[in-house]
Amino acid sequence: MHELMRWGGPVLATRIRFAAEDVEVGGQLIRAGEIVQPVLVSSNHDPREYPEPDRLDVTRRPAGRGEGHVGFGHGAHYCLGAALARQEGEVALRALVERHPGLALDAEPEWMPMPGMRRLARLPLRLG
Ligand code: HEM
Repeated sequence: MHELMRWGGPVLATRIRFAAEDVEVGGQLIRAGEIVQPVLVSSNHDPREYPEPDRLDVTRRPAGRGEGHVGFGHGAHYCLGAALARQEGEVALRALVERHPGLALDAEPEWMPMPGMRRLARLPLRLG
């Protein structure tokens, strides 16, 4: 589940933040009052953290502690529903794959035009 969230999580960026004071992040000065919007999908595909970041590899393990990726955000505003969302995903995907071991993509997925989010409009599958 961690690798699925890293590779293709639905939330692309956090809500916007305003810097409360001058702060330097990665050599970049952000002045008090300026707007910042961390792009989660970019961090989750950072090749310094994840070799071949665009490859989905469910055997990939985070280098440090915890889940590694930031698909559920980070810090004080970390997603309150993360544990529930992970459980739901695991239960649903396991049930689907167990019931249909020959499950396969039948046509290209269609995506909803939603800025900041990745949501499927249509996922044509062949049930095996
Ligand atoms: C796959 C499903 C989900 C994803 C990818 C997701 C992702 C996120 C992310 C990235 C944030 C941080 C936003 C930010 O920093 O601006 C967030 C916050 C939050 N999420 Fe989720 N979420 C999911 C499911 C849920 C569910 C199921 C619930 C509730 C049952 C939930 C409740 C919340 C709440 C209340 C916050 C705000 C926390 C705060 O601001 O302190 N989320 N979520």
